[in-house]
Amino acid sequence: MTQNHTARLVIRDADASDERQWRRLWGLYNLFYDHAVSEPVTAATWQRILDPQSAIFARIAVDGTALVGLATYVLHDCTWTIAPVCYLEDLFVDAAQRKTGTGRALIEDGVAIAKARQLGRVYWHTKADNVVARRLYDTFVQVDDFVRYTLPMD
Ligand SMILES: CC(C)(COP(=O)(O)OP(=O)(O)OC[C@H]1O[C@@H](n2cnc3c(N)ncnc32)[C@H](O)[C@@H]1OP(=O)(O)O)[C@@H](O)C(=O)NCCC(=O)NCCS
Repeated sequence: MTQNHTARLVIRDADASDERQWRRLWGLYNLFYDHAVSEPVTAATWQRILDPQSAIFARIAVDGTALVGLATYVLHDCTWTIAPVCYLEDLFVDAAQRKTGTGRALIEDGVAIAKARQLGRVYWHTKADNVVARRLYDTFVQVDDFVRYTLPMD
């Protein structure tokens, strides 16, 4: 458990009791991306988050009893490192809580976990025009020059 500089903010693993609040933030995150994640996919994602055998894990930011931020990670093997690497797939902070250090605290927490587990790297993507997120990300590492190709299978 990580205690943030915002005294009441706690970063911890999501657990079963967080489902209602996690679903609220997850819904807002999907709205942000204007992306409709179906109920079966949302349910499966939540189950994977709770499953210690799954490669997916989630850290949440809690202020008092309110879940105010989420970060979802996927661990996977890598051809360029012996240690597994960690993909930060989702990052979202409740609009009412933004600009108070929650997003930074969530990333710092993920980096600390990766260091503790001796992972090969943490990496993430964002849209080129997401200037708010990129201002935060630029404080961790310089952006690289890879671009992403996505070929849907449906
Ligand atoms: C991106 C996001 C997670 C940042 O969360 P946050 O809790 O507001 O971030 P922090 O308070 O830790 O801010 C850290 C830094 O980000 C930058 N930043 C955050 N909000 C900003 C804003 N509205 N305008 C300009 N810079 C901003 C600043 O550099 C800030 O550092 P500073 O406070 O020292 O100036 C949040 O804005 C969010 O959920 N956005 C919608 C979803 C999204 O874009 N997710 C990322 C997708 S990859």
